[in-house]
Amino acid sequence: MSEKKYIIPHDFKITKEDREKLNKHKAMLIWFTGISGSGKSTLASMAEHVLNEKGIHTYILDGDNVRSGLNNDLDFSDEGRVENIRRIAEVARLFVDAGLVVMASFISPFKSERALARDLVGKENFVEIFVDCEISTAEDRDVKGLYKKARAGIIPNFTGISSPYEKPENPDVIVNSSTETKEESLEKIVEHLSARLSFK
Ligand code: ADX
Repeated sequence: MSEKKYIIPHDFKITKEDREKLNKHKAMLIWFTGISGSGKSTLASMAEHVLNEKGIHTYILDGDNVRSGLNNDLDFSDEGRVENIRRIAEVARLFVDAGLVVMASFISPFKSERALARDLVGKENFVEIFVDCEISTAEDRDVKGLYKKARAGIIPNFTGISSPYEKPENPDVIVNSSTETKEESLEKIVEHLSARLSFK
């Protein structure tokens, strides 16, 4: 795409810092990663509720929603997942620039794409939360009935069964939804966020 050289960004006057000042809190990307059914979106939703009560402006981006709209042209091949996360990371970057605390809840199975998201918003604006969960636990719960279909070979490339999940090596927070209650996991998350976002 040689036309790229003709793209010259406009120097807008209002910055992320101005928006943060107006909002009275920092903007941040809180990235929840883990296998399907691990509880990412449940915990993101619970954390959002806490932040909302503290007067923090939030927005949740989640796999099933984004994949039914913006990314409905993408499949679950490795390439499809890479492009899914690349687009989400770009959208999240815009939302962070808009001054919001964005929660992204995606399997995001590859370390490289999670690193891309972190690099796009900057390390200081990024929190990685690993929602660890035994595959057997997610499979027993099988809230959406997808594990059963994956085992039966109806759904190909299913994370944890026929497609890989690379665990984060150094996440900011690790919760384990196989061994902890939701409330225990939430407490760990909120403790970390209160330090990063400076609320009590
Ligand atoms: S990601 O791997 O590209 O990050 P994403 O979080 O957007 O995945 O979407 C995951 C959701 O899509 C799962 O929670 C599940 O409901 C659904 N899904 C459908 N097919 C698959 C599949 N092959 N592997 C994993 N999840 C799938």
